[in-house]
Amino acid sequence: MNRYLITSAIPYINGIKHLGNLVGSQLPADLFARYQRARGAEVMFICATDEHGTPAELAAAKAGKPVEEYCADMWHVQKDLSDKFRLSFDHFGRSSSARNRKLTQHFAGKLADNGLIEEVVEKQVYSNADGRFLPDRYIEGTCPDCGYENARGDQCEECTKQLDPTDLINPRSAVSGSTDLETRETRHLYLRQSALRDKLDAWIDSKKDWPVLTTSIAKKWLHDGDGLRDRGITRDLDWGVPVQRGDAKWPGMEGKVFYVWFDAPIEYIGATAEWADTNKLLDSDWERWWRTEKGAENVRYVQFMGKDNVPFHTLSFPATIMGSGEDWKLVDYIKSFNYLNYDGGQFSTSQGRGVFMDQALELLPADYWRWWLLSHAPENSDSEFTWENFQQGVNKDLADVLGNFVSRVTKFCRSKFGEIVPEGGAFGDVENALIADLTAKIRTYEAHMEAIEIRKATAELRAIWVAGNEYLQTAAPWAAFKTDPDAAAMVIRLSLNLIRLYAVLSAPFIPDAAASILTAMHTKNTDWPDNVAQALNTLQAGDTFTVPDVLFAKISDEDRENWQERFAGTRD
Ligand code: MF3
Ligand code: ZN
Repeated sequence: MNRYLITSAIPYINGIKHLGNLVGSQLPADLFARYQRARGAEVMFICATDEHGTPAELAAAKAGKPVEEYCADMWHVQKDLSDKFRLSFDHFGRSSSARNRKLTQHFAGKLADNGLIEEVVEKQVYSNADGRFLPDRYIEGTCPDCGYENARGDQCEECTKQLDPTDLINPRSAVSGSTDLETRETRHLYLRQSALRDKLDAWIDSKKDWPVLTTSIAKKWLHDGDGLRDRGITRDLDWGVPVQRGDAKWPGMEGKVFYVWFDAPIEYIGATAEWADTNKLLDSDWERWWRTEKGAENVRYVQFMGKDNVPFHTLSFPATIMGSGEDWKLVDYIKSFNYLNYDGGQFSTSQGRGVFMDQALELLPADYWRWWLLSHAPENSDSEFTWENFQQGVNKDLADVLGNFVSRVTKFCRSKFGEIVPEGGAFGDVENALIADLTAKIRTYEAHMEAIEIRKATAELRAIWVAGNEYLQTAAPWAAFKTDPDAAAMVIRLSLNLIRLYAVLSAPFIPDAAASILTAMHTKNTDWPDNVAQALNTLQAGDTFTVPDVLFAKISDEDRENWQERFAGTRD
């Protein structure tokens, strides 16, 4: 049996994610997980919250809560929203879990044993007013590259340049605003990534089938000057995984924690172990996904993420895995995404610009968003959310094509034959032609889904829906009924079966609508249409069904205008 380990980049704990975040990792990962399950594969689909580091601490301070409490609360908020968006994680973990703490300390210990950790005494910015060091986002100032005045110590949001806190011009504390800063010496652990350059280079070179977006970013970092320079993996912070060498203390590292980007990807493993704990399973049950010698050699591991995450997944995390010298599973395929923009600008968490997950669900059910977002996934370039485009996508694809087909067929049947699948004769030439056409289209759809070409898969699925509408138009059972009711009955029998088939094929995109369709058709049969002719004979004459309620309501111009206005500003 095929086995797939699927991970989505784990979202920062600080606040509710916007639709751009959703379409850049969790949603496409869910699409792939659902598709592989539908094809009979064994799937382990993992996500979690990314709880350490300065984003969490600063957000907790702003919310006026202790950081542990803030993270626990926000985990529930994010978990609830991912459930409502039908993200079908096998486990939604927390990077602050005991499992992740142990694993992170374990990896650090192994890396040290293998000579890949260096202790460096370096200068860091210290705030006299705050009585603490100011790593990463604790410090703000002017970007030395582009002059942006609110650049953060780890990165300039304006020009995306990676920074060190000491690079900033006119630095100030992000906590107190104080400029009473000095540099002080402090001891930190560095991961000697540069020692693994050749191994990483060869590994990335071997990935011929990876998307260009993934490999081009990886290559740029590998070869561009200091892309793979050794980096500090510890911080002078209270909140995080305490620095230890495996189970042992690390002399000189007391009171320090690992850097968030060191422990976050390890949580992919941690969350799988949490999954086993939650389900009262054994270590061997999660290890068969992660340890090649314990069963993971025949697992295909696929990661999903936005492009800003690519360097960490193509270089830093593989360096941790390779450097451990143990038989941990390396990623087989990385699907990365460009950005989704919002109505002429950017989605922005810090500025509250765009539509956020909770707000989206106040307007419309999850399927509407899932369909539009996936059909506009920013695969080959950035893409843009506009309300006009959203209205069009929903009204045309979901209401006019899929919804309309279901409603026409079921209502016509009810009025002429009752809510019962009618008998009719054998399929004729038109039906055989339809079966051939659908077979070709379904095989193409499968190929795009296997290749995670999401827009192409969407287009093919839409074409499969359209083929049904065209068939109905040609076969015209409403006309045939007057002269040859048997012929009309056969067309309707086929069309009712087509409805079930659509539910099965569409479920990875629109799981709730697919479930309502199957309920309406009084069937639990979700068999994949390996043989289309057979699939169209699943519902038999005499089987009953119920005309479903409207599957997709159209978005009116009035709604669109109201929403456009409501979301024009920023969230408070
Ligand atoms: N929290 C990061 C972000 O939202 C992603 C972390 S992915 C992981 O950009 F690999 F580190 F887990
Ligand atoms: Zn800049």
